[in-house]
Amino acid sequence: MIIIPLLPDPIIECDFESVYAPSDDSYLLIDYFKSKIDHIYFDGIKISEINNILDLGTGTGIIAIFFQLIKIENPNFNPKIYASDILEDAIKCAKLNEKRNNIDNQIQIFHSDLFNSFPENLKHSFNIIVFNPPYLPSSKFIEQNINKQNIDYSWDGGLKGYEIIVKFLSAAKTFLNLKKEHFIYCITSSRTDLIELNRIIINMGYKNRIVEKEHIFFEDIVLNRLEYSRY
Ligand SMILES: C[S@@+](CC[C@H](N)C(=O)[O-])C[C@H]1O[C@@H](n2cnc3c(N)ncnc32)[C@H](O)[C@@H]1O
Repeated sequence: MIIIPLLPDPIIECDFESVYAPSDDSYLLIDYFKSKIDHIYFDGIKISEINNILDLGTGTGIIAIFFQLIKIENPNFNPKIYASDILEDAIKCAKLNEKRNNIDNQIQIFHSDLFNSFPENLKHSFNIIVFNPPYLPSSKFIEQNINKQNIDYSWDGGLKGYEIIVKFLSAAKTFLNLKKEHFIYCITSSRTDLIELNRIIINMGYKNRIVEKEHIFFEDIVLNRLEYSRY
């Protein structure tokens, strides 16, 4: 495999307190993608077959911008890049970061709670969906009934920590292009019950493979690569 030299690190600033500043989980994804792309394949999928890539929960836009910049280095890699987030501030921040990387208005950016506000024509269209989700348990909020702040959307994955991931996966299959090879890349954490989550994922019809794992302070962060297998 010929690795494309000097793959770009996007220039990213976090202009709003409510937006997640890229962290170990963001770079776990980017470093994995960097190691898996060459002039012909992206993680085993022919790049000529990849038409649409989605970075859901884009935050500063880092992952979507990374993919958009690869297109400059590698003319064979030419998918349309989409990004979305539940927070208006994240949408504004991702647009500012697009400008900082001189790629203004090239990424299609939506304000949406998961896929709820996606246009119909994007159903069955994505070859690659990336979600670095909120993946930690939110028992503090549930127990103490504290108001959720915008920044908490970055980490609050629900009472068990994986509820948002399950909601995401349940909707994602409608947006994957199941006629072609496709992957979902999603981060999870050992601070949730990963055995239970994996059981749910398999019952939903996905095949899951752990492709990277990193131990950080008190948890393992895990990069999962999923394919929908019931079709
Ligand atoms: C851990 S941050 C990841 C941000 C960025 N992708 C990165 O890797 O640095 C999770 C992101 O998901 C967004 N998010 C949380 N719940 C969401 C939902 N229901 N729909 C869309 N985005 C959501 C948050 O606002 C936040 O930007």
